[in-house]
Amino acid sequence: MTLAAAGTTVPAATVPPTLPLVTVRDLRVAYDEHVVLDGVDLDLRPGEMVALLGASGSGKSTLMRSLTGFVPVSRGSVRVAGHDVTNLPRGGLRTLRSDVGQVFQQFHLIPRLSVLTNVLTGALHGAGPVNLVGGFSSAHRVRALQLLDRVGIAHKAEEPARSLSGGQQQRVAIARALMQQPKVILADEPVASLDPKLAGSVLRLLRQIATEDGIPVLVSLHVLHLALEHGDRVVGLRQGRVLVSAPTARLDAAALAGLYEEEDDDDHDL
Ligand SMILES: Nc1ncnc2c1ncn2[C@@H]1O[C@H](COP(=O)(O)OP(=O)(O)OP(=O)(O)O)[C@@H](O)[C@H]1O
Ligand SMILES: [Mg+2]
Repeated sequence: MTLAAAGTTVPAATVPPTLPLVTVRDLRVAYDEHVVLDGVDLDLRPGEMVALLGASGSGKSTLMRSLTGFVPVSRGSVRVAGHDVTNLPRGGLRTLRSDVGQVFQQFHLIPRLSVLTNVLTGALHGAGPVNLVGGFSSAHRVRALQLLDRVGIAHKAEEPARSLSGGQQQRVAIARALMQQPKVILADEPVASLDPKLAGSVLRLLRQIATEDGIPVLVSLHVLHLALEHGDRVVGLRQGRVLVSAPTARLDAAALAGLYEEEDDDDHDL
């Protein structure tokens, strides 16, 4: 007899709250007098893909770089996968960066090396210097091949990276990021060099990784409809401040237009 059949009250299943893996609070970044980010808050939770929008110069790349300790933080806190980025212990920067997978617009593969070796280099994060020739274990190779299979290009494993199309190279870069077993993925304009069809397929892959592996993905984009179609949430920056932060289901292109409006004439040197 089940508990319910016996008349016992069965508590409704409670969904455990997912704690953010990334928490940014009141972040200010300035280069001399130039304030690039001001009062920025950001949360990234396991399993979600967050689209980062904003005009050129609004601070998207700076916000991403702040998560891996590359920019001078003058106020606020940045926590990433348990690391207090503004107050890292000795050696903490390397561990932090090994926990953060990164994907770039220009892929940043090593063109003459094979696709498989490029993926294997992801295992070097946090490992210190490793001999590139014969320096990887067979377990690493098996894992790299599994990842290439997952991103749909295992058949290219032995080819030099330079022989692949842009969309294929971005898939290699994503497999390389996964090879380091990241806790968070940052993708700064990962589809800006790809045609619309490939852009959609790369964003679907990133979102699938977020959903299936529970890895939050922060992806900066310049195309609104891609953000609305593929993101779970949008964070929109305007002149270094968060102007929009909402689930995509509650947004449309009109709601995002303010991110791209010209500054008031008063703010310009005429
Ligand atoms: N190292 C630096 N020194 C001085 N200023 C910087 C530095 N890095 C960025 N900036 C300035 O910070 C502002 C934001 O730059 P950022 O690269 O974050 O913008 P973005 O939103 O990524 O733009 P884009 O869409 O063109 O990539 C710009 O005005 C830029 O000139
Ligand atoms: Mg940028």
